[in-house]
Amino acid sequence: MTPETEINPDKQGPQLRLLVLHGPNLNLLGQREPQIYGTFTLAEIDVMLQREAAELAIELRIVQSNHEGVLIDLIHEAGEWASGILINAGAYTHTSYALRDAIAAVGLPTVEVHLSNIYAREEFRRHSVIAPLCKGQISGFGPNSYLLALRALLYIVRPQG
Ligand code: DQA
Repeated sequence: MTPETEINPDKQGPQLRLLVLHGPNLNLLGQREPQIYGTFTLAEIDVMLQREAAELAIELRIVQSNHEGVLIDLIHEAGEWASGILINAGAYTHTSYALRDAIAAVGLPTVEVHLSNIYAREEFRRHSVIAPLCKGQISGFGPNSYLLALRALLYIVRPQG
């Protein structure tokens, strides 16, 4: 075995790496039901997250997908390089046992994020099938939900701050 195959180069480096996943329809933020989700675009939220990550000296890889299988593949791949996952699974939160199983299979600490307060909306949104596999959930603070969730995940993966 060569040193290259013994050590996964992706796991090396000084910076902690986290995956941020945005699920279906979140690409439409800014124009999508602004009375519920606000007027920030996803690109603006990503800039906020990357600024915070720079302050905290961590690396974020941020991906949005409308496709369940793509989100699952990204969770699997994260097992190779990431220390944790932030996920806003959109409506898959309420329906996707496959996403739930992917989080369970990979076993990375995961924090669930929602812009809106899912408990103050329609009945079907009050149940998250991924919540039992997550360390916790931040829901209802608009774009700040992501920043709070990032801090929460960091407390888990880098307890020294
Ligand atoms: C959401 C809440 C979900 O119920 C919904 O399907 C979304 C967005 C949120 O961020 O508030 O797409 O995850």
